[in-house]
Amino acid sequence: MNLRAKKLFGGLLIFVIIAACHIEYAAGRARGEGKTKSSPVLYWEDAAAPKIHVSDDLLARGDQLYHMQCALCHGASGEGNGSASLFLGVKPRDFTSEGFKFRTTSSGALPTDEDLFRTVTVGFPAYGMPGFHYLSEEDRWAIVHYIKTFKKDFKDAGSPEVVDLGKEPKVTKELITEGREIFKQAGCHACHGVTGRGDGPSSATLKDSQGQPVLALDLTWGGIYFKGGDRPRDMMRSFSTGLTGTPMPSYLDSGFTKEQLWALAYFLKSLSSDIHKELE
Ligand code: HEC
Ligand code: HEC
Repeated sequence: MNLRAKKLFGGLLIFVIIAACHIEYAAGRARGEGKTKSSPVLYWEDAAAPKIHVSDDLLARGDQLYHMQCALCHGASGEGNGSASLFLGVKPRDFTSEGFKFRTTSSGALPTDEDLFRTVTVGFPAYGMPGFHYLSEEDRWAIVHYIKTFKKDFKDAGSPEVVDLGKEPKVTKELITEGREIFKQAGCHACHGVTGRGDGPSSATLKDSQGQPVLALDLTWGGIYFKGGDRPRDMMRSFSTGLTGTPMPSYLDSGFTKEQLWALAYFLKSLSSDIHKELE
């Protein structure tokens, strides 16, 4: 097989894997799974591991692994333009110029090394990026240190500060009702729609920092469609820190208290699960 055919084959294979992943998930939902119990996913937040610090050997290993595992999508020089990117609706991150969506740090800040480790471990299976949990922790740390070399800002950044999201409250019916109000007051419906189905008036016009159209997520889906996780604590982090590079803002300093934001997170959970019914 020549190189062109190999690339085409690689791209098609990825397309088939993504399609299979969606079909399996949809079949699970049709069988009633996922509505009442959470799907057996490794959550982004839970995927951190003790850090192995950077060394020349680790960087050399990361270089090798990156070109084997990531370059097909993210490109040999990290610009997000690998050959398989042609087959993906959501484009792979350009590590040289773009920001990072999933972080424990504040809006627009760089992610921590642990955040990158989480992303490499869990991936975004519904959107094409597999999770690399099958690689050893050392290999995943090697890749994390290597991808940081694509972006100059990482060089002098030190350790970005992790934001404090307060304490997760105990869920009650009242909390969910309060969350429903915050959803309206915060204007989430402009993009996500009044019923959370992703059909708000602004939804069709949204673009990311690369000018690519980006859909406001249908919040009733839950599961693997939530790239950062669909538990209240995951969603609390996603909408508090914001998804840098997309129109999805950060709500941590939007005038709502952390208690109110937690209520909102529980309301969102009620859109994709029966959590509210279980309280009755
Ligand atoms: C099959 C294609 C594919 C492969 C292979 C792949 N990725 Fe990705 N990656 C993506 C896509 C698509 C996105 C964009 C997801 C989004 O923006 O919502 C992404 C996003 C990312 C992000 C950004 C996360 C954020 O918070 O914004 C990181 C970091 C990343 N990938 C690292 C890697 C590493 C490291 C590897 C190899 C170990 C890898 N990816 C392999 C497709 C891929
Ligand atoms: C200006 C439009 C806009 C507004 C307003 C908005 N969102 Fe979003 N939201 C988006 C877009 C676009 C995405 C998908 C981003 C992506 O995946 O790249 C998203 C994704 C999300 C996600 C999924 C994160 C994940 O893990 O994939 C959650 C949760 C969310 N929004 C909650 C909210 C809440 C709660 C509010 C109001 C407090 C809100 N959004 C307001 C545009 C918006």
